[in-house]
Amino acid sequence: MTKYMVKISNRGNAEYEVDDKRPILDELRRHGVDLPYGCKYGGCITCAAKLTAGNIDQRRQVALNNWQLDNGYVILCVARARSDITLEIGTESHDKLYRNPFLEPLKSYQLKSDIASKEDT
Ligand code: FES
Repeated sequence: MTKYMVKISNRGNAEYEVDDKRPILDELRRHGVDLPYGCKYGGCITCAAKLTAGNIDQRRQVALNNWQLDNGYVILCVARARSDITLEIGTESHDKLYRNPFLEPLKSYQLKSDIASKEDT
C-alpha cells in the first residue's frame, strides 16, 4: 500500500492523504470531503473532477469520451492515485465536461475509445 497526497486547488489547496489501492472518491469522503456521486462504478459521470497535476489510474471508468479525457477529467469513484495529484472539484471544474452536441459535435476521434477513430475522418 502506497500513500499519496491529493491537493484540491479550488478548496484552498486543502491536502489529504489517500491509499493508492482505494478509489479517490472513497478516500476523500473518508476525510470528510463532501463530493457528489451516483453509480460508484464509473458509468454516470456524477463524480467527475479535473486532474491538473499528477497521475491516476482510471482504467475502470466507462463514462468519459476521449474529448473529456483529453481535457483532464477523472472519474473519482474508480480512479486510484498513482502519484501526488492536484484536482479541481465541483461544478466549477466542469467547464469542459459537457458540451452542446448540436453546436459543437464531437469529431470521430473524440468519441469514447471503443468507437473512436484514430484520426478525424
Ligand atoms: S459515481 Fe457514477 S461515475 Fe462516479
